[in-house]
Amino acid sequence: MTEQKAKDLKAFYRYDADHPFASMYPLLAKQIVDDLGVTSGPCLDIGTGSGALLIELGKITGLELMGLDINPEARVLVSENARRHGLPEERIAFLQGDVHALPLPDGDIRLVVSRGSIPFWDDHATAFREIYRVLQPGGVAFVGGGFSRYQSKEEADRMRPDWVRKDNPEKRARWLHREFLEEALLDATVTNWRIIEGGYGTWVEMRKTSQASVTAGYGEGARHAMSDL
Ligand SMILES: C[S@@+](CC[C@H](N)C(=O)[O-])C[C@H]1O[C@@H](n2cnc3c(N)ncnc32)[C@H](O)[C@@H]1O
Repeated sequence: MTEQKAKDLKAFYRYDADHPFASMYPLLAKQIVDDLGVTSGPCLDIGTGSGALLIELGKITGLELMGLDINPEARVLVSENARRHGLPEERIAFLQGDVHALPLPDGDIRLVVSRGSIPFWDDHATAFREIYRVLQPGGVAFVGGGFSRYQSKEEADRMRPDWVRKDNPEKRARWLHREFLEEALLDATVTNWRIIEGGYGTWVEMRKTSQASVTAGYGEGARHAMSDL
């Protein structure tokens, strides 16, 4: 690892004004609240890392925040960062775990979010199945990578350090293909979903309806009519 990359990585886990994506997390949290409208109930952030997205969601909602990461060191990082932002430590619970086998019961979570973790997953169908399993009926998931649509593309491009784009290109590129995501969602037998693509990122939104019905604009019917936001 180059010295610069090690420095950049360290900076990624300390969420303060100098974080390379400091202006992004508040905008992404606002987008999630504006678009999904979930402001209370249990919220799980998968691959939470620094906890930045959860911290910003915590500032503008009454969500019960839970960060999950495969890396046990994230526990300390999340609580240090929460403290930095004046969020009471007890607002965020931490779970060490793997997206491929979430340590949570069925139907537990109202809102699942995950940003920037998807490139590292080994089996996306299993991951999507797990996410769908833990959603409450009426719950929604927003999973993917990139920036908020409230951010300008120029600003987003400026924020990305070189190694984020160049590192491990094959593994990173795979999940960016619509066909790859569609296949994983179908394998996972998730029914209500859409893929949101644009200059800002690629996201999968999944909704678990209370009935088996497919909401207009979602599900298999949406495979050919998915819009960019
Ligand atoms: C690039 S970081 C993104 C962190 C944070 N979500 C953000 O947007 O700043 C990816 C995170 O995903 C976690 N991760 C990777 N594979 C995982 C898995 N299988 N299950 C859960 N977390 C995972 C990593 O430990 C890391 O913290």
